[in-house]
Amino acid sequence: MNKYIEELRHYHSRNSKLLDQLSDTVKRYQNSKDKNHKTRMFDIVRQIHDIDEPVHHANEEIIREELIQANVHLHPSIQMLQRDHEGFARIVHRLFDLEKSRLPAVQICEHIQNYITNYFDHMDCEENFFFPMAEKHLSDVQWTHVAQKWHVTATRQVSG
Ligand SMILES: [Fe+2]
Repeated sequence: MNKYIEELRHYHSRNSKLLDQLSDTVKRYQNSKDKNHKTRMFDIVRQIHDIDEPVHHANEEIIREELIQANVHLHPSIQMLQRDHEGFARIVHRLFDLEKSRLPAVQICEHIQNYITNYFDHMDCEENFFFPMAEKHLSDVQWTHVAQKWHVTATRQVSG
């Protein structure tokens, strides 16, 4: 596997585990209305949106832009990824507004559950369409461009 794609997949698998934990915590909060579960939910959201997340999305955009240059027919969902990436910061701010709000648990849980579903859909699209297309169609020269533009994350996987 290409080492850049491997780094992106590694980040996804870390986030998938956190999203699974978040989903469990949402269920617990929904059933018990216990404030400790609410606190735990937003702690997990904070872990997902750590300092590496904007860097991760920016790195995916570097590859996506090279794929557009490769002049291949792209699955329409790949074109939607940019909109998702631009929307993540806005969505996170809305989630943190919920943390301070007095909305009933059921409504907070619904927003968080939608966020979980959308995040999994986003990663599924990248893993099933975007990453395989990039691995298939980017030339060696294009991967050199990726290497030149790549941003280093705090939990860096790519070496050399
Ligand atoms: Fe992404």
